[in-house]
Amino acid sequence: MSLFNKKSDEKSLQVKIPLHLGIIMDGNGRWAQKRMLPRSAGHKAGAQTFRKITRYCSNIGVKYLTVYAFSTENWKRPNEEVSALMNLFKSYLEEALADFKDDSIVVRFIGDKSQFSDELQNLMVKNEESSKDRDGMVLNIAMNYGSRDEIVRAVKIISSKVKSGELNEDDITEDIISSYLYTSGQPDPDLIIRPSGEYRISNFLLWQCAYSEFVIMNKLWPDFTTDDLDEALEIFSKRNRRFGGV
Ligand code: IPE
Ligand code: IPE
Ligand code: MG
Repeated sequence: MSLFNKKSDEKSLQVKIPLHLGIIMDGNGRWAQKRMLPRSAGHKAGAQTFRKITRYCSNIGVKYLTVYAFSTENWKRPNEEVSALMNLFKSYLEEALADFKDDSIVVRFIGDKSQFSDELQNLMVKNEESSKDRDGMVLNIAMNYGSRDEIVRAVKIISSKVKSGELNEDDITEDIISSYLYTSGQPDPDLIIRPSGEYRISNFLLWQCAYSEFVIMNKLWPDFTTDDLDEALEIFSKRNRRFGGV
């Protein structure tokens, strides 16, 4: 049963809902391999999990959800896998994201869109445009996202502003840097969940995760359920966040 449905349970009342939750959707390939299926079948199953978990996050009151869907390094994978992923993104952008309309979810893409086909880029912009005036959870889908790339991009914009005189070198602050990242205007993630048991960040939200809590779970992403999310939230709720204080 979900935490959301058992509001009368005292324990669930103590669960803290992160304002911003990040999820590294990992383990699709291993899920498929375990079943002697092609890796693309794992990505397809993972996409269903993404759909379910996103709606759940919106229902329980998460305000910002950032999901890592495709990294700047994932182009290194075999052509067959990359093209299966591109086809999956296309069908998702055409159909599934329309689902989120009922939940008033604002859809945004973070990452360098320019590397995708024109068709995919147009679909991304269309989804962003059609959802931008909604008032629900903000869903950031990280596609061709790499945090080092994001930081390089921010440094280039800032240096060009300094060069043109629009910005003073002395006025560069942490807030200014944050404001040139893809997540500009959004709070930093409170919690980052990584399924599949890997203890690493893999170039996800490097600047923004300075004080994020991490929960690593052993489930592979296609097997990840709302109960697993509840479990991660319970772990998060017990953490003592000090932000460098005492
Ligand atoms: C995450 O699952 C999806 C993408 C990176 C696109 P993986 O494909 O990395 O799955 P594993 O880690 O190989 O099991
Ligand atoms: C991180 O997973 C990227 C996504 C989930 C989209 P990877 O599978 O690419 O990361 P590594 O290679 O295990 O670090
Ligand atoms: Mg992986």
